[in-house]
Parts: sequence; structure tokens; C-alpha cells
Amino acid sequence: MDHFRSHFPALSRQQNGKAIIFADNASTTLKPQSVINSVNYFYTHLCSNVHRGENTLTQEASELYEKVRIRLADFLNASPDEIIFVKNATEGINLAAHLAGLTQDSHVLNSIFEHHSNFLPWFQRAKVELVNPLRNGDFHPDTFQEKINSQTKLLAISHVSNITGELFPVDSLIQLAKKNNLLTLVDASQSISHFPINVKELGCDFLVFSGHKIFGPSGVGVLFARKEVLERATPWMVGGGMVDWVEESGFAPRSGPAKFEAGTPNIEGVLGLGSALAFVQEVGWSAIQEHNEKLALHFWELLRKNSFISIHRLRKDCPTNPIFSITLNGLSGNEVVTLLCNRHNIMARYGAHCAEPLMRYWKLPGTVRFSMQVYNTVEEVSLIADALESMTRFFL
Ligand SMILES: Cc1ncc(COP(=O)(O)O)c(C=O)c1O
Repeated sequence: MDHFRSHFPALSRQQNGKAIIFADNASTTLKPQSVINSVNYFYTHLCSNVHRGENTLTQEASELYEKVRIRLADFLNASPDEIIFVKNATEGINLAAHLAGLTQDSHVLNSIFEHHSNFLPWFQRAKVELVNPLRNGDFHPDTFQEKINSQTKLLAISHVSNITGELFPVDSLIQLAKKNNLLTLVDASQSISHFPINVKELGCDFLVFSGHKIFGPSGVGVLFARKEVLERATPWMVGGGMVDWVEESGFAPRSGPAKFEAGTPNIEGVLGLGSALAFVQEVGWSAIQEHNEKLALHFWELLRKNSFISIHRLRKDCPTNPIFSITLNGLSGNEVVTLLCNRHNIMARYGAHCAEPLMRYWKLPGTVRFSMQVYNTVEEVSLIADALESMTRFFL
């Protein structure tokens, strides 16, 4: 993987004359040069709107924009008609909540592990129940089954936790939801850059992620929505770009994804996202998964050697996704990340990670989170563990 590091210019950033270690990838990922070039290409050579007019620039921009939709459909095994460009995962979930046709009496199931962005859009429109999926120390789909009632309309769950890196059993939860005629949403924000996703195999109705979590630009995200759900839904935002015709007494929306993409989209973001997907495909899923599992296992083994560290997870086994939430007994999380940054050049994150219900359940103000990506190395992981070790020796 080492030669891929050279594709990420931000990795050459130094602090105090030394290289930085970026371990906050669950928050956002770094961008390869090809993504930066795509955004740059748009502003340098196209700088034009999409689907508006016949001139060369707009036609080229529209063609490239729609090619990314096709690439995304291929990436997820969906149809291009099922791919809607949004601002980010948060907007995608808000749009899905609109498309689901919920009422204030609808009942929605969430897990207690959800990011606020996969809780509040449901909370605002329906009665949400945060299910604690644990039973006998393991995740149990029956805990969801027990909560389903005649008003339950939808189950929304993250694929991989942004707090613990754990993979949730979305396949069995979707099967369970289907048996009970519920719609399903998978929040793929933390899985999209880690392993291949096949929406047809999963059988979900909605799946969302942000481009910036998979080496793409900020300000662009994707909502996959099953064609049947889209066809019966009304537009959520109205204006230019989403109408077939308009007269004083009314309008007719366009069909397909355009119906849900009102206004000028983030064209440069979409083009950059296309290059990010190309980057992932070039590296290859097996190399990505193998590398990430190696990082996770190495970090897991080192963390467990330090008796001052508590690792916060659902299960007791090692995660395959290198996302870890820890606390250091006796040291505040803020102190830990500040010391890591200022003394060791390590960029980590302390806080509730937009999962306050979970922190309340754990009775913790927050955790220190480390999250790695393909460009992190085993040596960097060792340096992080060494830094934590020296901190505990010095302070505790
Ligand atoms: C699991 C999960 N869902 C949703 C989001 C929200 O993503 P965004 O802020 O890009 O909309 C995040 C971001 O951290 C996340 O980790």
C-alpha cells in the first residue's frame, strides 16, 4: 500500500518539522490527487451548468455528470435511475424520510448506535425507538423483532458503526424488516470505503453515504432509493431543474432522479466523486480489506496490552474496520487528543461523535476515536500505541 500514499498530497503535511499521522478518517478521508484534478478540471475547462442548454461546455459537463451516476450504479449494483445526488449522507437520510411517506403516528426503528444524522430526520417526522441490539453480549436481531408493532414503517441502521467500527448484521435485519413489510435504510457512511456493497443483494430500499467518506469531495452525497419507492414519491424540493413544464396554475415534475435534484447541483463534487470511485476500483477491494484488517488487528493487539486503556465496543472480538473508541482511565479525552496532536503529530478525535444517545447509555461524556484508512501504515499504528503508552507512563 505504501506507494498509494504518494497519491494523497495532504500526507506530506508536516507539523513541528515532522510528518503528521492522520487518524481521523471516520470524520473525513483525505483526497487523492486524481480527485483534486477532477475538481480543478471542472473549473478550468468546463465551469458550466448541467442539463441546461445546448452549448459545448454544458453538454460536456452534463455528460461527465451522468457518467458518474452510471459509475455509481455499477459500484452499488443499482440502476442509474435509482441514484440521487444529494449534499451529504445527512441530506440523503432527510430525503429518504420524505420519500418513505411517514406520518407523526409512524413508528421507526433505529439502533442506539446511530449517528444523529440517522436519528433526527426520523425523530422529526415519526416516533423513533432506539433499540439496544445487545443480548448476552452479542447483537441480536430478535431485539428488533420484539419492538415491531402495527405502526412500524421503517428500520434505519448503520452498516458500520462510526464509534466502534463494528459491522452490523444488516442482511438479517433487512430480511426481518421485509417479513414485516417495513422499509429499510442502510447508512453506509462508514462502510462505503471499506468493502464492496451490493444493494440488490442487500435488498434495502434506501442506502446513503457522503462522498467525502470515500476520498471524494465534501458537499456531495448519494442516496440510492429503489425505483418503486421513487416512482410513487412526490418531490421534496421544487424549483429549476426538476420540472418538465410550469404554468401559472401548476407544474409537472420530471421523472427519474431529476425529480429530486432541484437547483444547480454540486457538479465539481460529482466529478470528483467519480474519480474517487475510480481510485478505489484501481486499488481493488481485496487489497483495501486486507490492509485495513491488518491495521485493525495490529492496533487491537497493542491497545489491549495497555491496562489503562478501555476499548468501547459491543463485541469482544477484534473489528475488521480500523475504527476504535477508547478512554484512558484518569485522563480526559480532550487532554489526550491535545497531547497526541501537539507532542506526537497524531490527528485523532475526542467527543460524542454525533452519537449522544449512545454516550448517555454508556455513561461517558465521549471517547477518543482513532480511525484508519488505506494510506495509514502499520508503523503509524505502532506510533499511536507508543504515544498512548508514554502518556500513561508519564501521567498515571
Ligand atoms: C455513520 C454516519 N452517518 C452519517 C454521517 C453524516 O455524514 P455527513 O455529515 O457527511 O452528512 C456520518 C458522519 O460522520 C457517519 O459517520
